[in-house]
Amino acid sequence: MGCSSTSCSVAVALLLLALGASGQLQVGFYSKSCPSAESTVASIVRAASASDSTILPALLRLQFHDCFVRGCDASVLIKGGNNSAEVDNAKHQGLRGLDVIDSAKAQLETQCPGVVSCADIVILAARDAVAFTGGPSFDVPTGRLDGKVSNLRDADVLPDVHDSAQVLRSKFAAGGLDDKDLVLLSAAHTVGTTACFFMQDRLYNFPLAGGGRGSDPSIPVDFLAELKSRCAPGDFNTRVPLDRGSERVFDTSILRNIRNGFGVIASDAALYDDASTVDVVDSYSGLLGTIFGPYFRQDFADSMVKMGSIGVITGSNGEVRKLCSKFN
Ligand code: HEM
Repeated sequence: MGCSSTSCSVAVALLLLALGASGQLQVGFYSKSCPSAESTVASIVRAASASDSTILPALLRLQFHDCFVRGCDASVLIKGGNNSAEVDNAKHQGLRGLDVIDSAKAQLETQCPGVVSCADIVILAARDAVAFTGGPSFDVPTGRLDGKVSNLRDADVLPDVHDSAQVLRSKFAAGGLDDKDLVLLSAAHTVGTTACFFMQDRLYNFPLAGGGRGSDPSIPVDFLAELKSRCAPGDFNTRVPLDRGSERVFDTSILRNIRNGFGVIASDAALYDDASTVDVVDSYSGLLGTIFGPYFRQDFADSMVKMGSIGVITGSNGEVRKLCSKFN
């Protein structure tokens, strides 16, 4: 069927808008230019996890830390001199897995030099990390370029463990993510661990309503004793599972834990402090969860893809780095 010149130009405009909205990313972007791109990343992630299974949660976290600062542009991978690179910001404390991205990049540079961006490798590795911990397998659009900027202070915008649900909401909204995304993506804490560093204030230095400081009163008594026995005052390094009782398997138990007061870090617990995020947590973990539960995996994957489209660089403002840790 044909179209008038007006309806044709409207259709073209809508198509361009749709392409623009997805940042011109596409699933299988490298299928011709570097057909082995996705399988190479998967095999490097698989090999890394064979020697250290804790690397999988670290790679999942890496996507969050890349995408929330200047968008998914691999800015977090740049290593500067004199502590001035983005990665040196304390907000990135404990970040690991950058070496796995570097290895994948090195291998891809021998297979298809100058083709696969570091920003895409971060996204692919996070996707594989989810699948390899028992989470959903899903397609991710690729075609991102690497950014040319890395500033220490840019990472100040990252959500903080002490943020309220309202502050978390506004930080996610800045990336086009809503309350559903906030809860679903926080549920990435179904795998992995936190350093006691992030628990100290919650356990020992929490501002109390009546004045003074102590333990967060929202923590159930037995759980508080358990957490204190794992994280002694001043212990910054011991690691504690984020999803009590189920830290190795990707499942909805983190949401049930949050619902029952067993959220380990304060930002997870805060999700059960706000009517709107409570509704989302309940929809996946409460009674309704038995109906909506099966969609958790698909919804999580959708939120990962959405997060992966934040501030994506395509066109001429970026580059494909030769080394992920250095601008060309
Ligand atoms: C809502 C805001 C968030 C805050 C405040 C937050 C905070 C934290 C903290 C403090 C840790 C412990 C880090 C360490 O000690 O190494 C952590 C770990 C982790 N985070 Fe988040 N996070 C948030 C959102 C996310 C998102 C959106 C994802 C991914 C979709 C994610 C994935 C992870 C994973 C998988 C770990 C475990 C890392 C490991 O075991 O090495 N987080 N997060």
